[in-house]
Amino acid sequence: MTAESKQPFAWHGKLERNITLLGVCALVAVLIGGIVEIAPLFWIDNTIEKVKGMRPYTPLEQAGFDIYVREGCYLCHSQMIRPFRDEVERYGHYSLAAESMYDHPFQWGSERTGPDLARVGGKYSDAWHVQHLSAPRSVVPESIMPNYSFLAKNDLKAGDMSAELTALYHAGVPYSKDAIAKANDDLKTQADPNADATGLQARYPKAQARDFDGNPKRLTEMDAVIAYLQVLGTMVDVDAAAAQEQLAKEKGR
Ligand code: HEC
Repeated sequence: MTAESKQPFAWHGKLERNITLLGVCALVAVLIGGIVEIAPLFWIDNTIEKVKGMRPYTPLEQAGFDIYVREGCYLCHSQMIRPFRDEVERYGHYSLAAESMYDHPFQWGSERTGPDLARVGGKYSDAWHVQHLSAPRSVVPESIMPNYSFLAKNDLKAGDMSAELTALYHAGVPYSKDAIAKANDDLKTQADPNADATGLQARYPKAQARDFDGNPKRLTEMDAVIAYLQVLGTMVDVDAAAAQEQLAKEKGR
C-alpha cells in the first residue's frame, strides 16, 4: 500500500476500482463535451452561412415541393451533391448548406435509384418534363421511373397557400407579410401566361412565370411540379459563392 501511494497518479487506482466514482466522472467528462458542442447553438443566430440569391419558394414552387413529398420522389432521388469529383462532374457544383435551408422537410435523401435532382433546374425544357413525368420510357427507354401522367390531369388543389406560408414563416422561412397576403394570387399568376408577374417577381426575385404544363387553360399539379423542378439549384450563383468563399479564406491566411 505504501509503495503504491508513492507512485505518481496513485489516486487513479482508486478511480479505476470504484465503479460509481468512475461512472460519475465519465458522465461529467461527457457532459462537458456535450455542452461545448450544443450550448453555442442557443446563442448564435444562424448556423448556415448566407449566400446571395437564396430566396423562399414561390407559392407554386412550394405546392410542387408538397407534391414531390406526397409522391415520394425523394425515395428514388436525392438533392445533395457531395463534394467528390465524380459527383461534381456529373451533377455540377456540390450543394451548399444554404441551398436547402428553406426546405421543410429537407430533401437530401439517402437513396439514389434515379439521379440527384439538386441542380436539375434549367437542364431540360418544360415540355421534356411533361413528357418524362407522364411516360418516362417515352424519352428514356431504359428508365424504371413510374408514370406520373395523372399530374397533368389533376387540377392543382393546393389549399390556402397563405396558411401554408404562415406555417413556414413560423418554421423560420422569411416570407414577408405581403408575400403571405398575396400567396393565393401568386400561385395562379406564376402559371398564367396572360397575368402580370411583376408583383410576383418583386416578391420572389428571378421567379420564372409561364405556363409550365403546356396547357395554359388549366392550373394542374404538373404546373406546380415542373415550376419546382425548374427552380432547383438555380437560385444561387454557386461559382460566384465559391469564389467569394475562396477570397475570404485567402484573406484570413
Ligand atoms: C422508383 C424510383 C423513382 C421514383 C419514385 C421517381 N423517379 Fe424520377 N427517375 C428515376 C430514374 C431511374 C431516373 C433516370 C431515368 C430517367 O430519366 O427516367 C429518373 C429521372 C428523373 C428526372 C431526370 C433527371 C435527369 O437529370 O436526367 C427527373 C426530373 C425526375 N426523375 C423527377 C422525378 C419526380 C418529380 C418524381 C416524383 C413525382 C420522381 N422522379 C420519382 C426513378 C424514380
